[in-house]
Amino acid sequence: MKVICKKNELKEIISEAKKTKNIALVPTMGALHKGHKSLIDRAVKENDFTIVSVFVNPTQFGPNEDYDKYPRTLEDDIKLCTLAGADVVFAPSPKEMYDDIYFEEKETTLVCPPYKYVNKLCGKSRPGHFDGVCTVVSKLFNLSKCKRAYFGKKDAQQLFIIKKMVSELDFDIEIVPVDIVREDDGLATSSRNTYLSDSDRKIAPNIYRGLNKAKELYNKGIKESQTLIDASMSYLEEFDVDYVEIVSIDDFEKIDIIDKKALMLVAAKTPDKKVRLIDNIEL
Ligand code: PAJ
Repeated sequence: MKVICKKNELKEIISEAKKTKNIALVPTMGALHKGHKSLIDRAVKENDFTIVSVFVNPTQFGPNEDYDKYPRTLEDDIKLCTLAGADVVFAPSPKEMYDDIYFEEKETTLVCPPYKYVNKLCGKSRPGHFDGVCTVVSKLFNLSKCKRAYFGKKDAQQLFIIKKMVSELDFDIEIVPVDIVREDDGLATSSRNTYLSDSDRKIAPNIYRGLNKAKELYNKGIKESQTLIDASMSYLEEFDVDYVEIVSIDDFEKIDIIDKKALMLVAAKTPDKKVRLIDNIEL
């Protein structure tokens, strides 16, 4: 497996690989865990050349967010990718990815999804976040020349927006959604789980318990969103809840009565370390 930090080197390798191979991309910000590994495993199985990008993307972090303290564990990430059978780890520096103007003026050409997709859920409390995500993902698509790209269902709004971007910008790329990987107690695996204190970690699985309770009630025939939201909220009393919402899976619009495939989503900050955790469940 090759570790590449320069765009030019990546170009050279890809110009050879793409003559005979189907290229897959797994975009990540590193601190790789078993959730990321499930994406890489799937990509390696379904394609003959897998690139894992490891890049903590500054344009998707707000000024008061955790860009500086985001965990960076490249050595371990490389080991995980090697064992998983990836062909390339692409780990550029911010200066390699963005032009000088970004560092001088904090500006760059951005790919901005429509307001309708970003004025809700995570986009509401993280202004500009999805512009940064779409921008870096577009750059990685262009650099990798991938035919397939793998994204986790854990970041459901991200997955929805990326799918829209691919369709609206005519990228010739298949987006492959991958199921959420969880710890034994149900907590969705996340790089940010390392920020949790012991007491946070103990109650963190309540997020998933609340989602499961709602699903149980839904399966018993309760179709009013508010009833399900209230049931789920009762598990989150100790948290600072950002949102609990139910949206249609097709367009991510809020629904009051669940009469089509829906997704229930939660974002909440833990009481002690104020770690913002997200999770979701299909109804
Ligand atoms: P990151 O948080 O590192 O996640 C990379 C990919 O791994 C995303 O598609 C995410 O949904 C998936 N993932 C994370 N935890 C998962 C879990 N427990 N189960 C399944 N999939 C999981 O998401 C990003 O990075 C960035 O926004 C990125 C797309 C790389 C752009 O910078």
